[in-house]
Amino acid sequence: MIPEHVAIIMDGNGRWAKMRGKERVFGHHEGTESVRACSEYAVEAGIKYLSFFAFSEENWNRPEAEVSELMRLMALSILNERPTFMKNNIRFRVVGNRSRLSDELNHDIDEAVRVTSVNTGLTLIVFLSYSGKWDIEQAAARFAAAGAPEGHFGEYLATAGIPDPDLLIRTSGEQRISNFMLWQCAYTEFYFTPVLWPDFRKSEFRQALEEFASRQRRFGKTGDQINVETKLSE
Ligand code: FPP
Repeated sequence: MIPEHVAIIMDGNGRWAKMRGKERVFGHHEGTESVRACSEYAVEAGIKYLSFFAFSEENWNRPEAEVSELMRLMALSILNERPTFMKNNIRFRVVGNRSRLSDELNHDIDEAVRVTSVNTGLTLIVFLSYSGKWDIEQAAARFAAAGAPEGHFGEYLATAGIPDPDLLIRTSGEQRISNFMLWQCAYTEFYFTPVLWPDFRKSEFRQALEEFASRQRRFGKTGDQINVETKLSE
């Protein structure tokens, strides 16, 4: 089974660069090629939503030069990839605390979102200046202010309208969620790989999808119940 929504924590760019005696930003540059390769493969595989954790709220604490290079890369990628988004019928979205982004970057994001909003294929979501705790806090404030009923909390999260991830991939051997979609990953399958992000391309992505297909998701039910449900739907 192909997951509807795959989320990726791209990790290991710095180590990848260091191993080659280069600056960390060299790893981020190469990492953008993995973003492109995975997006292309997601289109090919029929995935509907692909999320990249590109910059966390905590990442603002990195050295200023690295932060500004990451922001520059982000702006550059958004501009450069627009024709590819149109060619591949990709809808572009950004999720996160956008008040911390520059006016220029926000403008470029708005343009890319507007231009690609007519597309109906893959929705590619870049999480920028995002943290799961920030998301829950901002949602809770709006939920309370609206006096919304129980069961509707998800509609106030920054990811409203996007289905919860079915599969979360994290590269570079780290096995933690690092403040990504905390609420949304309640029933997400996790896939950890030692491969560093710049080396994570089509064949590594395919392997993750194969592993996902072999998992039985129970959502709190028993394996027997799931087997009966699967038989009935066949
Ligand atoms: C983690 O590696 C990577 C990041 C914090 C940045 C990822 C961003 C990009 C690949 C830029 C482009 C993204 C898009 C969506 C266009 P790390 O620096 O934490 O590596 P380390 O753990 O080895 O130090």
